Amino acid sequence: MQRPPVLHLAALLLLLLLTGFSLTEAVEIKVHDNNNKTCIYAILSVNFTVVYEGNGTMKNTTFTLPNSLSSNGSVCGDNNSAPLLKMDFGPGHSLSLNFSHSAGIFRGDVLTFTYNTSDTNLFPGAKNTSVNQVAVDSLMEAAPLNTVYTCRSAKAIASKEVIMVFYDVGLQALVENGTISKNESICKADMSTTMGPLTTWTASTMTPTKPPPPPIPSVGNYTLKNGSETCLLANMGLQLNLTYMEDNQTRLINIDSNSTASGLCGDQNATLVLEDMKTTVSFHFMVQEQSKFFLKEVKANISLVVNGSTTSHYINNSSLKYWQTSIGSSYMCHKEQRLRVTDQMVINTFNVWIQPFELKSGTFSRAEECSLDDDSILIPIIVGAALAVLIVIVVIAYVIGRRKSYAGYQTL
Ligand SMILES: *[C@@H]1O[C@H](CO)[C@@H](O)[C@H](O)[C@H]1NC(C)=O
Ligand SMILES: *[C@@H]1O[C@H](CO)[C@@H](O)[C@H](O)[C@H]1NC(C)=O
Ligand SMILES: *[C@@H]1O[C@H](CO)[C@@H](O)[C@H](O)[C@H]1NC(C)=O
Ligand SMILES: *[C@@H]1O[C@H](CO)[C@@H](O)[C@H](O)[C@H]1NC(C)=O
Ligand SMILES: *[C@@H]1O[C@H](CO)[C@@H](O)[C@H](O)[C@H]1NC(C)=O
Ligand SMILES: *[C@@H]1O[C@H](CO)[C@@H](O)[C@H](O)[C@H]1NC(C)=O
Ligand SMILES: *[C@@H]1O[C@H](CO)[C@@H](O)[C@H](O)[C@H]1NC(C)=O
Ligand SMILES: *[C@@H]1O[C@H](CO)[C@@H](O)[C@H](O)[C@H]1NC(C)=O
Ligand SMILES: *[C@@H]1O[C@H](CO)[C@@H](O)[C@H](O)[C@H]1NC(C)=O
Ligand SMILES: *[C@@H]1O[C@H](CO)[C@@H](O)[C@H](O)[C@H]1NC(C)=O
Ligand SMILES: *[C@@H]1O[C@H](CO)[C@@H](O)[C@H](O)[C@H]1NC(C)=O
Ligand SMILES: *[C@@H]1O[C@H](CO)[C@@H](O)[C@H](O)[C@H]1NC(C)=O
Repeated sequence: MQRPPVLHLAALLLLLLLTGFSLTEAVEIKVHDNNNKTCIYAILSVNFTVVYEGNGTMKNTTFTLPNSLSSNGSVCGDNNSAPLLKMDFGPGHSLSLNFSHSAGIFRGDVLTFTYNTSDTNLFPGAKNTSVNQVAVDSLMEAAPLNTVYTCRSAKAIASKEVIMVFYDVGLQALVENGTISKNESICKADMSTTMGPLTTWTASTMTPTKPPPPPIPSVGNYTLKNGSETCLLANMGLQLNLTYMEDNQTRLINIDSNSTASGLCGDQNATLVLEDMKTTVSFHFMVQEQSKFFLKEVKANISLVVNGSTTSHYINNSSLKYWQTSIGSSYMCHKEQRLRVTDQMVINTFNVWIQPFELKSGTFSRAEECSLDDDSILIPIIVGAALAVLIVIVVIAYVIGRRKSYAGYQTL
């Protein structure tokens, strides 16, 4: 016995106030078993685009998954049958997803979208009125049982006639004891981004948990050669902190330590270009007055998926002055540094050891360490400064004291 979706109106209204989301934005569904316990929980937003044949021309229509739907056709699932989430809406439209499960995990299996082009509201002027079906592999990654799989990022699933964009998704099949889990399994797409809380679900059933920041980037060892001779060495872990202007959200992107290194070595200039699947970052080092080198320029080309579409970002600043080091030495900094490139991008660096000029026999020369690493120097400076202040205070007190007693003698 299934029940229609339960809408947490209070939570939705609260959310409306907080975020300005429209009521149609997220659909929340709880499928119940024979004992009236929740067995499948879902919250999701879906944008559909369907191309259909009109009067002589191809037309397309876009709509979102409506709140007024029935999950009556859903199946809780047991040892013999797979859980099925079926959402019926309008005259004969439905979206359904069945789940497979094994050894402590569950995952989405096949996603089926059925639409009825006789519905003149959604398909005005359709020529062939018929019920159509598309079935595609769901993009839901495997998640441990007793967790809610969440994916706030938009994911698009496209077939010939239909594009479905899923976002703000939370799914749990095989809910145990009717208690929706408080633990999230975050999808891969959300791992590299910092995102806001999931719409109604977070507000209604749990305290907001942000996806964890990506781990500290692993250190890549990058080498450039001039012929057979190593001419540039760079060991470092890199993380880009991007503030995406359109939505003002920050995104942390770790540079793959397997990035390919290329570039150019020279007497006065050296360039290191690191490239992975999504990102290209280049570092330009320059020699200044024959005695020092520094990082002069950073360029970055980043592709990001925002709301289901890929966007490219180019960031460049050629008047930087980081990592100043004597020629013939290498630069070392174990601590995390945050190098501002532009208002949009900060590079967080970890365990930097770099030498772009005058390598001897292909290895690092003597290292000049960044001041951040030098706690040992900082502490004596602080102690020394404190002592100096103390001495000054004592001297002043002594002088004032003497003046007072001198004045005292005079009046007598
Ligand atoms: C199922 O549980 C809800 C509360 O969670 C209750 O309002 C409803 O009456 C119950 N329905 C049945 C058929 O027991
Ligand atoms: C289809 O288009 C033709 C010509 O463009 C028009 O005469 C006809 O009325 C249209 N039919 C419908 C159902 O709109
Ligand atoms: C849908 O139609 C619009 C214009 O009516 C067009 O710009 C767009 O490319 C179409 N989309 C698809 C997927 O056909
Ligand atoms: C779902 O099924 C119940 C009875 O099982 C019925 O009362 C209810 O009207 C159905 N809802 C829809 C939208 O079909
Ligand atoms: C399903 O299988 C498990 C162990 O494999 C068993 O404990 C449980 O009773 C079974 N449930 C049903 C409904 O058959
Ligand atoms: C398709 O839509 C039409 C018009 O709304 C309706 O009469 C028909 O029953 C629907 N077909 C199905 C299979 O629900
Ligand atoms: C899910 O449904 C598809 C098509 O309806 C079917 O081929 C597949 O076997 C089902 N998966 C499971 C785990 O039952
Ligand atoms: C469900 O109930 C059983 C028995 O009461 C308990 O052992 C188990 O931990 C519960 N599971 C969850 C996820 O609450
Ligand atoms: C990178 O270089 C460092 C220091 O030279 C070394 O400890 C580390 O093992 C190297 N890592 C790899 C993956 O070669
Ligand atoms: C990323 O940048 C934002 C805005 O500049 C800042 O608030 C945040 O602390 C930074 N995060 C990290 C991990 O660098
Ligand atoms: C990087 O390379 C190492 C060793 O070749 C490999 O184990 C690792 O999976 C690679 N990482 C990525 C992200 O490709
Ligand atoms: C989905 O559609 C709504 C309304 O048409 C729009 O505001 C929203 O940006 C779309 N979201 C995505 C991820 O395409």
